[in-house]
Amino acid sequence: MCGIVGYIGMRDAKEVLLEGLARLEYRGYDSAGVAFLDNENNLYVEKQVGKISVLRNAVFRRFHNKCFSLGIGHTRWATHGGVTQENAHPHVSASGRIALVHNGIIENYMALKQYLVKEGYHFVSETDTEVLVHLIEDFYKREGNRNLQSAVMEALKLVEGTYGIAVISVDEPYKIVAARNGSPLVIGIGEKEMFVASDVNALLAYTRHVIYLEDKELVVLKSERYKAYDLDYQRIDKEVVKVEWDINAIELGKHETYMEKEIFEQPEAIRNALRGRVVIEEGMVKFGGLNMTEEEIRRISRIVITACGTSWHAALIGKYLIERFGEIPVEVDYASEFRYRNPILKEGDLVIVISQSGETADTLEALREAKRKGVRVLGLTNVVGSTIARESDGGIYLHAGPEIGVASTKAFTNQVVSLILFAIYLGRLKNMSLYEGQRLLKELSLVPEKIQQILEQQDTIKKIAEKYHEAKNFLYLGRGVNYPVALEGALKLKEISYIHAEGYPAAEMKHGPIALIDEFMPVVFIAPRDALYEKVVSNIHEVKARHGKVIAILSDKDDHVLRYVDDALYIPQTMEEFSPLLTVVPLQMMAYHIARIKGLDVDKPRNLAKSVTVE
Ligand code: F6R
Repeated sequence: MCGIVGYIGMRDAKEVLLEGLARLEYRGYDSAGVAFLDNENNLYVEKQVGKISVLRNAVFRRFHNKCFSLGIGHTRWATHGGVTQENAHPHVSASGRIALVHNGIIENYMALKQYLVKEGYHFVSETDTEVLVHLIEDFYKREGNRNLQSAVMEALKLVEGTYGIAVISVDEPYKIVAARNGSPLVIGIGEKEMFVASDVNALLAYTRHVIYLEDKELVVLKSERYKAYDLDYQRIDKEVVKVEWDINAIELGKHETYMEKEIFEQPEAIRNALRGRVVIEEGMVKFGGLNMTEEEIRRISRIVITACGTSWHAALIGKYLIERFGEIPVEVDYASEFRYRNPILKEGDLVIVISQSGETADTLEALREAKRKGVRVLGLTNVVGSTIARESDGGIYLHAGPEIGVASTKAFTNQVVSLILFAIYLGRLKNMSLYEGQRLLKELSLVPEKIQQILEQQDTIKKIAEKYHEAKNFLYLGRGVNYPVALEGALKLKEISYIHAEGYPAAEMKHGPIALIDEFMPVVFIAPRDALYEKVVSNIHEVKARHGKVIAILSDKDDHVLRYVDDALYIPQTMEEFSPLLTVVPLQMMAYHIARIKGLDVDKPRNLAKSVTVE
């Protein structure tokens, strides 16, 4: 979603903010803005519709001979109000003395706005955020001893909704006040300089020492120190954490896009997820953070997995794996549905939430709902220190490294790897033999090398992308553990290439989608040699009989169906349960190349944001 960055210190805030905003651009990017204070306490605001590069040019044109030691910035992904310069952040109070950037949604903004309009405040934007900056000013003016910190605190007490904010004032020019509720905020601690951002990626070029704010916490930043409070003015001690990722992990290197880089990082990402967890001699898996005893694990009678989007597809694969290896019944639910139903949870249930970002609002609320019902929650997240990671009772980190491309790739494969490991772990605590554990783990450790072989087929995949990039619709079909891969392949294509695509269980085709098949419809079949292979081959025949175009993902050396398919991509042989880790890769690459051929921005597809922190 939107991104926030703030800086106070000896560097030129222009550079720090624009560099930080560029690192956050993947979170939301229809418009962006910055506000600076200079040494004479003048407030300068610059906002632009479009990408950060547009803002950068405007800022350097206007302020090329100025240096600022304090500023706040924002990238916007519109929620309330259209994409205009007025609606972009920072928003400035009526007196022109306070500026604010905000992530989240002020739900009671209408009521607050009515009050402020009555008090004579004039609104220039259509955003919910503008309410907040006027409200802060209203409290500021009311205070006997004017104080930005208390004005922000009092204003926030009236706010219903979510916020991550950073506020500056010309009357208190040596500080930034920042606060969070339901929208992530991290403070970066440097040498005589402080940073605030909604995402640690914005800070990594400067510091790896951070503190994570919790909901309803506020922090006052000065260049030499920070102080954290709750909204009742009580001081809070915060732990300073060292971030593991360094700046190289978020650089493009030799790649042209983050999505390409992340697709190619999958072998290494999987090795990182396996490292230290797999003990092949014991046929066993070791986790550091489950926070459950083996006895508690054995008592799990049902698992509910909840997630959104690509993470939900991984959850569907997890169901298959956990039922197969762990012998525990699993239900999978969209987090957005789970939180608004009355999910029946009982003693013995375990809820697993899966989220790359660890900040997705629907998933976070599903987690909280499960905890409210007294059920233990395990979080599978990629971002260390994210809200979901912190609020879960225990967890498994994905160790995929930062994922910047909006379309999830390496996080998906590492989600599947983590679920495989968890399923084997459950199995070994129950009925799985030592031999079976060893066999599975040996095969799993070969997967990175097998993905590498798929990545080497880039040229063939490009040719297929070239051939089909003008298609208007695609169908993706798979069965069993590869049915969720069909869903994922279709999602990848639609989100980055804007081509309509649907995924189905292959056998469902004849119950409806078959009506769509004609010579213009490419149908992607995921057909590795597994127990359901022959059945999928029958579906391929059904498509060919109706002149559809078939692109098939086949196991190596499978020439059995070659004469019925138009194009084939091969994956090395592996166990059926691990095949999604391989079959998804050519689908990611095909979507990638189709989008690139169409000249689209794969890292920042239209209308999408990397972490969806609103409902
Ligand atoms: C698709 C994609 C989204 C996310 C979804 C959940 O490529 O990235 O569908 O999977 O928004 O995000 P996380 O996993 O961060 O909770």
